[in-house]
Amino acid sequence: MTEADLPAVLVLERELFPEDAWSEEMLAGELADQPRTRHYVIAESGDGEIVGYAGLFAAGGQADVQTIGVSAAWRGAGIGAALLERLLDEAGRRHSEAVFLEVRADNPPAIRLYERYGFVRAGLRKRYYQPSGVDAVVMRRELRTGPSRVTFGFTGEKR
Ligand SMILES: CC(C)(COP(=O)(O)OP(=O)(O)OC[C@H]1O[C@@H](n2cnc3c(N)ncnc32)[C@H](O)[C@@H]1OP(=O)(O)O)[C@@H](O)C(=O)NCCC(=O)NCCS
Repeated sequence: MTEADLPAVLVLERELFPEDAWSEEMLAGELADQPRTRHYVIAESGDGEIVGYAGLFAAGGQADVQTIGVSAAWRGAGIGAALLERLLDEAGRRHSEAVFLEVRADNPPAIRLYERYGFVRAGLRKRYYQPSGVDAVVMRRELRTGPSRVTFGFTGEKR
């Protein structure tokens, strides 16, 4: 995603997150930190319409899914999964050890998508979303499943 995509993304943002849509300034601020700590992607239909987008924060070995959304008319076709895969790939390239996200407890389609990609529930933030008072489910997905270092047997010459 680049600044040129912002007008279309903002229209979607307001549709998808009517209660707490990010402002143009917030989204522009996210893009301004690409590629340093952010990675934002868009999904385009065949005729160039932006139908989905997603963003990752990654720094210091930890990554967060900042946002992910697909236009209502295009859901259920695997676009959300494709966007999430891009973010997970990027987190891997940046050597993140784990990816976190927060999702509204009343959003089963999103929770199912995350579970399908190996995210597990790591906590609950009570009444996190305001003014609705809906809880946030914190989810976590490990990226390094094996040992992160190769350790050699050390026979240990005693001094
Ligand atoms: C959550 C969200 C991003 C998912 O996007 P999506 O493009 O519909 O996601 P997918 O198509 O990959 O997966 C959704 C469902 O479609 C099904 N599906 C996937 N590929 C499919 C295909 N080719 N054909 C038909 N169905 C398919 C999946 O099995 C999944 O079903 P499930 O929910 O029963 O598990 C979307 O619902 C959304 O934008 N919601 C509003 C914003 C939001 O809540 N974002 C998350 C904030 S944390």
